[in-house]
Amino acid sequence: MRKILLLSALAALPLLAAPSGPARADSAASVVGNVQPMNTGEDVYRHVCQGCHMPDGKGAVGAGAQFPAFAGNTKLQSSAYPVYVILNGYGGMPWFSGVLKDDQIANVVNYIRTHFGNHYTDAVSASDVAAQRPPVTPQE
Ligand code: HEC
Repeated sequence: MRKILLLSALAALPLLAAPSGPARADSAASVVGNVQPMNTGEDVYRHVCQGCHMPDGKGAVGAGAQFPAFAGNTKLQSSAYPVYVILNGYGGMPWFSGVLKDDQIANVVNYIRTHFGNHYTDAVSASDVAAQRPPVTPQE
């Protein structure tokens, strides 16, 4: 069950990463440059999160789905909360524990907590994320 859901989350990623607007002249170079290794929080956000949470972090409502805003979201006060949601999923949000590495999760959490009008200064580290990983070993 877990494996099947993870595969479907993986299958959805290229769709989410696809640019929705007209192609930009620099898109090929920037996509190749950003997808691998996708190190910064901004890269992770653009390629993985913004398809649902929107480029401006204001979320969206429509077609029966509700994607929460990060702008002014007081639930981001605790850094452990977004780490938990990203690792484990939550409601309509898929989990990313098998897709994103600890440093990528730390970087994207730090990104959403310091953008979209948020100014939290207590950054999380990759080891903070590792400590929150669910205690299951992925099957080979
Ligand atoms: C497939 C769409 C989708 C993607 C991709 C996605 N999310 Fe979400 N996210 C959701 C939905 C839907 C919820 C609300 C779940 C609920 O309330 O039941 C949510 C909730 C959250 C929450 C909790 C917000 C709150 O107010 O409780 C955080 C934090 C979050 N997402 C961060 C991220 C980050 C960071 C990424 C990228 C790594 C990401 N999400 C990718 C759909 C998505």
